[in-house]
Amino acid sequence: MPEPLIVMGIESSCDETGVGIVRGHTLLADAIASSVDQHARWGGVVPEVASRAHLESMVPTINRACADAGIKLKDVDAIAVTGGPGLVGALLVGVAAAKALSVALDKPLYGVNHLASHVAVDTLEHGPLPEPAIAMLVSGGHSSLLHVPDLATDVHQLGATMDDAAGEAFDKIARVLGLGFPGGPQIDRIARDGDPLAIDFPRGLTSKPDLEKHRYDFSFSGLKTTVARWVEAQQRAGSHINVADVAASFQEAVVDVLTRKAIDACVTHGVEHLVIGGGVAANSRLRYVAEERATKAGIKLRVPRPGLCTDNGAMVAALGSIMVSRGVAPSNIDFGADSSLPIESVRL
Ligand code: KG4
Ligand code: ZN
Repeated sequence: MPEPLIVMGIESSCDETGVGIVRGHTLLADAIASSVDQHARWGGVVPEVASRAHLESMVPTINRACADAGIKLKDVDAIAVTGGPGLVGALLVGVAAAKALSVALDKPLYGVNHLASHVAVDTLEHGPLPEPAIAMLVSGGHSSLLHVPDLATDVHQLGATMDDAAGEAFDKIARVLGLGFPGGPQIDRIARDGDPLAIDFPRGLTSKPDLEKHRYDFSFSGLKTTVARWVEAQQRAGSHINVADVAASFQEAVVDVLTRKAIDACVTHGVEHLVIGGGVAANSRLRYVAEERATKAGIKLRVPRPGLCTDNGAMVAALGSIMVSRGVAPSNIDFGADSSLPIESVRL
């Protein structure tokens, strides 16, 4: 068997400049430069600041990835880049860099979907993805349940969030509770000292009539408003707020709905394998409850290690590598950055 090819993946859809290098399913390098500190005081990612940071970090991050992998640029056999969805100015920096490399090195270029990359990254830890699989993608911008017959070419959305993404809800509630940005890791940490059953916050789209119409959809804005009102009411009454209890109860409401719907999708579609990806998949409570419920339902669960769940270049390289190994044709060089690229468009 010939050695698998070396694929470089470039990610710049939000605030991380990521350059990953893989050979087949083996991770050789995962270099990241984050601009998160520059956004923290605004309580969210500022697109223009993110684009400028990508411009400054792109070449040094490419060089660092090559050094970490012990390769020269000319050893790269193919290049993959996030073409969308994401912040358009930020995406353009990665797309321009990837096109320049592809032309200069005369190597094929794959413009790939950021969301599918969040699923593909699991192959670097757990090997080839059993297909079909059900994938749950939970990030700062998206929450979707996917049926995946073939990750390189064929991904169907079963349902998605109707309003806020799961990560967005974590970030907003963290702000209400006076915790830092990004909020997910802060809530995860503080919730460990809280009681998840302290406050019974609502589980969106889980009533019988809602399930009939929105079985695999999510809604977190009602939960977000309820938590914010609850906190305001306590403040008005001058009552002490146990932040750990609020964080744990909020987190439990999110985790309960996500895991319930993901397992239901597996059981209903007769699919044995569930993959969870995206920044929120780093959440310790989500990982625990998903494992517990999957085991009970006879479903095999795969979740990448937390460091691979948040945005990185390795995930883009992983998806590019799957496309290369399956003989998927490269993208035409003229593709653009697509800020709202649908999940079904795995390759541009
Ligand atoms: O996938 P990602 O890095 O970027 C996007 O594509 O959006 O996801 C970022 C999101 C943020 O909303 C962040 O608060 C959330 O993932 N997140 C977490 C945790 N780590 C990151 N949410 C809950 N618990 C965590 N441990
Ligand atoms: Zn992401």
